[in-house]
Amino acid sequence: MSRLKICITGGAGFIGSHVVRLFVNKYPQYDIVNLDKLTYAGNLMNLHDLEDLPNYTFIKGDIVDEVFVNELFQEQKFDAIIHLAAESHVDRSISNPLEFIKTNILGTVNLLNAAKNEWKDNMEGKTFYHISTDEVYGSLGDTGFFTEDTAYDPRSPYSSSKASSDHLVRAYHHTYKLPVVVSNCSNNYGSFQFPEKLIPLAINNIKHFRPIPVYGKGENIRDWLYVEDHASAIDLIFHQGKKGETYNIGGENEWKNIDLIHRLCKVMDELLQRAEGTSAKLITFVQDRAGHDARYAIDCSKLKNELGWKPSLQFEEGLKKTVQWYLSQEEWLSAVTSGDYLNYYESQYTKR
Ligand code: NAD
Ligand code: TYD
Repeated sequence: MSRLKICITGGAGFIGSHVVRLFVNKYPQYDIVNLDKLTYAGNLMNLHDLEDLPNYTFIKGDIVDEVFVNELFQEQKFDAIIHLAAESHVDRSISNPLEFIKTNILGTVNLLNAAKNEWKDNMEGKTFYHISTDEVYGSLGDTGFFTEDTAYDPRSPYSSSKASSDHLVRAYHHTYKLPVVVSNCSNNYGSFQFPEKLIPLAINNIKHFRPIPVYGKGENIRDWLYVEDHASAIDLIFHQGKKGETYNIGGENEWKNIDLIHRLCKVMDELLQRAEGTSAKLITFVQDRAGHDARYAIDCSKLKNELGWKPSLQFEEGLKKTVQWYLSQEEWLSAVTSGDYLNYYESQYTKR
């Protein structure tokens, strides 16, 4: 296999850290450069185990800074980009949309321009892989699934900014022949997820006997995928996906939020050796999210049929592994939930 220099953006965040770990360990012949601004969501503790490996480098930088991105690309001569850096939390996008526009749209355009300029004389063997979300497709009713052909209908500032970046990536393929590939994935769960998202937030609150905030009536549905299965899909698509194509990635694992939380409470009671029903008493219905999408569900048959991908874990097993990980990571959890997190939590939840 040829030597490649790959820039993975957002590698110190949740999914990015799993992708970096997979690529660094599985492909010692590749040079992996992790480019991350280290916002509140990025943390080098997530990749502590890779720090001394010879095929791994970390570069701190902001993809919104055009001059920095251009200089970096001129200097580093990347063969490929796997782009995960983003502002990723819907609730934060509702209170502060502009950060999402800057990072998710302008940041992506800066990377596209830098790649286009560097690769313009020879695009052979190059790849710009853009990681996106199922939320760009909008919201489903009780039936149906998002396919790669579903028309975009984003509803939140987060999903709109991701939709915009997806369109730009495809436009660079169409207009400049940039060798791009895009994937749109459903909700991920697993280790190293920042505890502002539903599952780690609930785990942390249950652990400390704090209320579990469930938006509205808890009837919204999400399709959950174990993060390492997302990383394995990214590996497959990076190596075997066709340029210009889009692949949907999903867990075929739909849960109503309230049912998921009850399941999580059961696992927490067992692992913390608390009496059955203790955690469920913490469930608290709070004011709904503005514009809350009702249901997401992915049809990932293209990825399964064309590239042979399949998820490795059942949800029960993945959820238990996830809870065990959070319970064993006292230091990580307290580091990421100190400081700014407390201010965020206060402003997000005390008013609900
Ligand atoms: P995350 O919030 O955990 O991590 C994002 C990372 O990007 C952080 O390390 C952060 O420091 C970095 N970053 C943010 N702004 C930056 C900037 N301006 N310059 C450089 N780095 C910056 O996000 P995640 O959940 O790991 O999501 C990663 C990607 O996957 C995102 O593009 C997201 O849209 C997509 N995605 C996420 C999910 C999910 O369930 N979490 C599902 C589908 C797709
Ligand atoms: P989240 O993890 O924020 O992911 P997304 O909004 O990208 O799907 O939320 C998952 C679901 O859980 C979503 O329907 C909103 C809901 N939710 C709550 O009920 N309470 C919470 O405190 C959070 C963060 C989310």
